[in-house]
Amino acid sequence: MSQSNKVRTAVVGLNMGLQHAYAYAKSERADLRWVVDLDAEKAAKVAEELGCSWTTDWTTIIDDIDAVSLCTPHHLHAPQSLQAIAAGKHVLLEKPLANTEEDCLKTIEAAKEKGVTFMMAYIVRFLPAIIKLKEILDSGQYGKPFSVNLWIQAYLQPMPNTWFSRKAQLGGGVMFSHGCHYVDLLLWLFGNTKAITSLGTRVGTEWMEGEGTSHGLMQFENGVVAHLETSWGMKFKSMPSFLQIHTTEGLIVLEAGMNKIEVINAEGRQTIFGPVPALTKEEGTNAFYECEHFLECIQNGITPETDGVEAMRSLRAIWAMYEAAENGGVPVSTTGV
Ligand SMILES: NC(=O)c1ccc[n+]([C@@H]2O[C@H](COP(=O)([O-])OP(=O)(O)OC[C@H]3O[C@@H](n4cnc5c(N)ncnc54)[C@H](O)[C@@H]3O)[C@@H](O)[C@H]2O)c1
Repeated sequence: MSQSNKVRTAVVGLNMGLQHAYAYAKSERADLRWVVDLDAEKAAKVAEELGCSWTTDWTTIIDDIDAVSLCTPHHLHAPQSLQAIAAGKHVLLEKPLANTEEDCLKTIEAAKEKGVTFMMAYIVRFLPAIIKLKEILDSGQYGKPFSVNLWIQAYLQPMPNTWFSRKAQLGGGVMFSHGCHYVDLLLWLFGNTKAITSLGTRVGTEWMEGEGTSHGLMQFENGVVAHLETSWGMKFKSMPSFLQIHTTEGLIVLEAGMNKIEVINAEGRQTIFGPVPALTKEEGTNAFYECEHFLECIQNGITPETDGVEAMRSLRAIWAMYEAAENGGVPVSTTGV
């Protein structure tokens, strides 16, 4: 691809954003021009490694780019996206979209009006094993799913008095911040829900104002019931796998690395996909898949698979979980939502 056809990109926020920067540096579709962080030393180091420019104030370089990855704390997502969109820039925004429904809708509307590409960085959706899993489920070749378990056991070093600890800045607890990937995944795989509930706890994660452990339950219109456990307080992990889907014919298992699929049925246990190794830093990291989709959408005028409207579905499901949790776990009807 000639230099002039490449999408001129910048990445703002260089923790998770580092992965976006590696992906753009690797991509034939992108010209990574800027990396940005409030921490000048960090930005300068990444810029040197990737051969681009750096700054601490992304608003000063906006005329030099076509698209920006915003990988910043959640309470900044809406204001930064709105600013980039107003300047006519395409935006790849780290999840979750925004902390309130009002801000989500405002951002979606602004992108629509400006005609720019607005995509949520739901990285899991673009992994090869996840795409294969969706294909297998849609084909029905291993039966009809009815019971699903998904385990996200993690430990975060306590970060009191940071945006991670403050509910207003994080937008909730672990289900909102980390669980949104997996609620999004379940909705993508199984469709609309009829009812949703959850219960959470702060035990083990008292440094957070929101829940640090949450168990969500989702009942889908197609008859599937799904359980999602997500935590930032588990010092030791022992996950049976990442995702198990019981079907009328057997059991489909996505291994903990999210890169291998097995099926257990009357024919025995067999690996039907993978393992696909995670992409290295030099290969662009696993963010490469989502960044390529973003760039392709910009270049070809396609609507991203994880656009704002799609991202709202997972957030609405989580807000329903929180409503249920506040009410002692009484399920919230989501039919028609
Ligand atoms: N997809 C995933 O698997 C995944 C994993 C981790 C985090 N995330 C998401 O990435 C985003 C950032 O999370 P994190 O863990 O990297 O946060 P973090 O707080 O560890 O890092 C944020 C970085 O952004 C910088 N920053 C903050 N405000 C800035 C500004 N106005 N301009 C420039 N730089 C700024 C900070 O200096 C810091 O280096 C969040 O939306 C989070 O949910 C996604």
